[in-house]
Amino acid sequence: MSADAVELVAEIEELVSGGTQALAGAADLDALAALDADLLGRRSRLGLLKASLRDLDDDGRRAVGAALHEARRSLEEASATRREDLRSAASAARLAAEALDLTEASGRARVGHAHPITRTWEELEDVFVGMGFTVASGPEVETDWFNFEALNLPPSHPARSMWDTLYLDAGQFEGVGGEQLLLRTHTSPVQVRTMLRAVEEGSGPPIYVVCPGRVYRRDTADATHLPVFHQIELLVVDRSVSMADLAGTIETFTKAYFGRELTSRLRPSYFPFTEPSAEVDISQPDGTWLEVGGCGMVHPNVLRACGLDPEEWSGFAFGFGIDRLTKIRHQVEDLREFVTNDVRFLEQF
Ligand code: DAH
Repeated sequence: MSADAVELVAEIEELVSGGTQALAGAADLDALAALDADLLGRRSRLGLLKASLRDLDDDGRRAVGAALHEARRSLEEASATRREDLRSAASAARLAAEALDLTEASGRARVGHAHPITRTWEELEDVFVGMGFTVASGPEVETDWFNFEALNLPPSHPARSMWDTLYLDAGQFEGVGGEQLLLRTHTSPVQVRTMLRAVEEGSGPPIYVVCPGRVYRRDTADATHLPVFHQIELLVVDRSVSMADLAGTIETFTKAYFGRELTSRLRPSYFPFTEPSAEVDISQPDGTWLEVGGCGMVHPNVLRACGLDPEEWSGFAFGFGIDRLTKIRHQVEDLREFVTNDVRFLEQF
């Protein structure tokens, strides 16, 4: 082997030991990338040596070629090792920075509390129970009949598009009898269940119930919508109740829940299950109005579907979004905050 080749092999070995040290000491990923380019790039010393192989004799070419190959392999390995170390150090640092201390300084566990939406739910029940209502509930998986048809929404009713519905393919369950199942889109089917039960059991009307519960829509979550959210439905069925009773009940509720300085208003609207129907707005501390739900006088077709004679009985109903009420009450900007389970958000309540 020529003297040239022997010298080159020695130079390559030196490059490797210097380069390996430099790589192991790279301060961060950027520094590592720069070193990679210097040591292994096309214009690096190794790159140039590779180009000069053709000037050597056969033996020299074999020896230097093998040294170059080995040099590249060990430098690449040193670089990969350092990259791994830097990455895990970065993620350990991030985890340490974001760690939540779940103990008090005294070493006692921190005391938890109910979720703000659960609290609103419970406070609303309290307000209405204080006004003389009882609490009713119904299933979250409903049939098309309870969620829509009995509420004066036959299958082809155009207003069905007001509710983006999640249908269930329940073909595999026995005993469903071919009924279309869905995730209830509102708490209004509980009105129907309550009236039917009262008629069946011979216990009423008069009916004064509130029905809080979870509801589902085929919606994308954003600051003012969640695909899974909560409503509270109120239903009164009695002899000769009027729209004035409805407005008075909503106003009493608004003051009881939000305080004497806030007020409510009704705006004419449309719902298939009430006639007349209205949208409920609640005044905001900044003077604007926020829509929180719908209401109206129970439609005669709904009373009839539940076995009640509309000549004898009349009723009013309203449905509010519990999540939206919580949002107004605590002035939360984005509804999604309620479901991300970030302790820093939740512990404010
Ligand atoms: N169920 C309606 C909805 O989710 C809200 C609603 C409107 C409820 C009018 C009512 C009512 O009880 O009378 O959009």
